[in-house]
Amino acid sequence: MRPLFIAVEGLDGSGGTTQVKLLADWLRAQGRPVHVTAEPSTGPVGRFIRQALADPQARVGDAVLPYLFAADRRDHLDREVLPALERGEHVVSDRYKHSSLAYQSLCMGLSQVAELNSRFRAPDLTLLLDLDPETCLQRILARGEPRDRFEALDRLRAVHDSYEAVVVLTRSQGERVCRVDAQGSVEQVHARVVAAVKDRASA
Ligand code: TYD
Repeated sequence: MRPLFIAVEGLDGSGGTTQVKLLADWLRAQGRPVHVTAEPSTGPVGRFIRQALADPQARVGDAVLPYLFAADRRDHLDREVLPALERGEHVVSDRYKHSSLAYQSLCMGLSQVAELNSRFRAPDLTLLLDLDPETCLQRILARGEPRDRFEALDRLRAVHDSYEAVVVLTRSQGERVCRVDAQGSVEQVHARVVAAVKDRASA
């Protein structure tokens, strides 16, 4: 299998982090090294974003976030993603461009966010973990972690609708986006993820 850049997307609580890990293990077992990563990244801009999202007193307004996420994405691509692909590794990223298109378009407008992100390399495959907002919120609350500003139910519903528009837009631009039913057990969802990746690899 040639090196693939795969982004895993979905609402908070849709199981992305778990599925990224399982997918990376599966890809490694196929014989090629895998670089696992995430956005916001671990770089300087990514760390700043995480702090801002976690702090209710943060004076970083929603209108500033699209630019911060885009700056982090440039840094993340140059520092981690592109070098790993050049070394012949698969890259699996827990969130990427579609997160900006879905979340930041709620305040900025989809075409503007798309423009801001238009120069970033498209993934070879984006997997959208599809789960209803109510189930996502239950999972978030069950984790008992403090909620960040994106995690209230209304917000989850809005982001869910927004992802729908993002799929339509990015597919029309030739991106490979696969919607994965994220209901069911971890193993069931993993099997669907693997099927989607095999399908992409053989295309
Ligand atoms: P997330 O990966 O869910 O963080 P954690 O692993 O701590 O749960 O990302 C944090 C939040 O950032 C999440 O609610 C989605 C949001 N986000 C955006 O709004 N735009 C983006 O471009 C990215 C990458 C994330």
